[in-house]
Amino acid sequence: MKIIGTGSALPSLRVTNHDLEGFLDTSDEWITERTGIKERRLLSTETLYDLAEEAAKKALQSAGIGPEQLDFIICSNVANRFITPGMNCILQGSIGATCAGLDINVACAGFVNAMMLADSMMQAGRASHILIVCAEEPTKYCNWDERDTSILFGDGAAAVVLGPGNGFKAVQMSMISNKDVLYYERCMEKTPFEKNRVEGQPLVMKGRELFRVAVSQSAKDIKIVLEKAGIQPSDVTYYLMHQANKRIIEGIRAILNEPEEKFPTNIENYGNTSSASIPILLDEMLHANRIHAGDTLLMSAFGAGFVSAACVLQWE
Ligand code: UT7
Repeated sequence: MKIIGTGSALPSLRVTNHDLEGFLDTSDEWITERTGIKERRLLSTETLYDLAEEAAKKALQSAGIGPEQLDFIICSNVANRFITPGMNCILQGSIGATCAGLDINVACAGFVNAMMLADSMMQAGRASHILIVCAEEPTKYCNWDERDTSILFGDGAAAVVLGPGNGFKAVQMSMISNKDVLYYERCMEKTPFEKNRVEGQPLVMKGRELFRVAVSQSAKDIKIVLEKAGIQPSDVTYYLMHQANKRIIEGIRAILNEPEEKFPTNIENYGNTSSASIPILLDEMLHANRIHAGDTLLMSAFGAGFVSAACVLQWE
């Protein structure tokens, strides 16, 4: 399996840290220093489905294939307006594809997990062209009266088209069940029978605990996946990390003792876009002509669960 096309789409509304100072007890200085974020994009006039469609169409165009050539669609999403049907079903119609698909929710680690699924399907001979779309609107489940999570997130979508090849070298997936560090509890409809009804609530996060486990578990995943791929940290051209906090990325970098220039970021412009963050970064780097044939890319992400995952790709 290899990536043969990429695309991304972001909302047009830019919201800076200074904009947030107007209604939250926070400051540009605090957000920049503690997270690296300067601004983020927020859905205002567009829908998440507009972004997903735009990213998918761009990825198909860059792959040079039509939607009818797709054998499968995998969508990664934590939460959106439609609980059913799945995002993959709605997207299939809007891009003009005819194949089946499924949605996954592995929080911010969704892209790496989708890559693992796609590779397994290709190795089993079940598909030769797969579309992955990561589309996320985390700003719609934060509490905007509080500063603890609303400053961190941004909305966005990105897609990749996968085709036959030998670029996917190794993957590591990890999970330590710990719901309490990060969760969003949605309110369901009332029934006349349910006892002890639980009302929903916006995203709850234990930031410091999540920070610590994110650094240690991601570093562990990376060491394991490097070993599986049979390479050293220095063999990696770029580490494409989940863009959750610049200090988390720096913590992982310090453990690996690798140079800063190998850890590209765009968190300053988009905040944390959940599972879309790595494919948005990948798409931007390709457009900037920063990735070339033969380069080794390591992707690593973590999120609510607690889940984490890493994979190694050789760019073909
Ligand atoms: O995809 C996964 C999603 N989530 C994450 O990856 C989050 C991981 N955690 C983090 O990124 C960091 O823990 C945060 C950015 C959330 C917080 O940074 P921190 O350095 O861990 O800050 P803290 O929570 O320890 O708070 C330090 C201080 C506190 O004040 P005192 O008690 O020292 O007076 C907070 O009340 O900063 C205060 N504070 C803020 N001040 C201004 C907390 N949030 C803010 C804020 N603006 N937004």
